[in-house]
Amino acid sequence: MRIDAPELTPQQTYKLLSGIVVPRPIAWISSLGSHGKVNLAPFSCFTFVSNAPPLLGINIGRKAGERKDTARNILAQRHFVVNIADETLLDALHDSAEEHPPEISEAELLGLDTVPGVAIDTPRLAAAPISMECRFHSVTPYGDTGAEFFVGEVLVFHVRDGLARDCKIDTEALRPVCRIGGPNYASLGPIVSKRVIRQTPKSVMAPEPPDASRDQP
Ligand SMILES: Cc1cc2nc3c(=O)[nH]c(=O)nc-3n(C[C@H](O)[C@H](O)[C@H](O)COP(=O)(O)O)c2cc1C
Repeated sequence: MRIDAPELTPQQTYKLLSGIVVPRPIAWISSLGSHGKVNLAPFSCFTFVSNAPPLLGINIGRKAGERKDTARNILAQRHFVVNIADETLLDALHDSAEEHPPEISEAELLGLDTVPGVAIDTPRLAAAPISMECRFHSVTPYGDTGAEFFVGEVLVFHVRDGLARDCKIDTEALRPVCRIGGPNYASLGPIVSKRVIRQTPKSVMAPEPPDASRDQP
């Protein structure tokens, strides 16, 4: 089947892409609203974009042209928390996508306890096996829908005891959930381990070439 992208409506393209770019990890973002309420919502257009410094990226769309609470809170407060849910938290994660006015805390509504941040004012979810306290880094708009790619720098990683050894996460013990197309999720299937392939260390930058113009008299 051939599908010419320019023939598709934005809705069709969304449906197609969100079924193709799978499985997606989910950033379960807690942010602080102007009423001091902890806002909570899931975002699966999520990845990390740098390890030095540690930068996470999340694509946040609009509702009826307006910024979502999470986007507004991040821009106002300049910090947020990316929580990672395990399978036991899937129902709460899904339900937290329900739209509520900014003065309503989804965390409170769902009976999820929060813990004060260490480096930032935004609290994290007590039940989450992993939470990352982030400082706002940048925001870049993409496309015609008003969607914006938010980048945050991780200041503190909170990892439940026993889940990491020497910075290596025990993924099986984490039991992460991911999103596939529509209101559908998947959990970890069998893990297949392969030989390690030698790679040039990522964080070593090639030296800058000498600036020839500087040598000119
Ligand atoms: C699993 C899941 C993943 C989602 N991923 C995104 C996403 O990547 N970007 C986005 O804008 N909305 C996404 N949504 C929708 C938001 O969670 C939803 O619009 C939510 O109401 C936003 O809440 P807020 O206004 O409190 O920020 C997702 C919803 C679900 C259930």
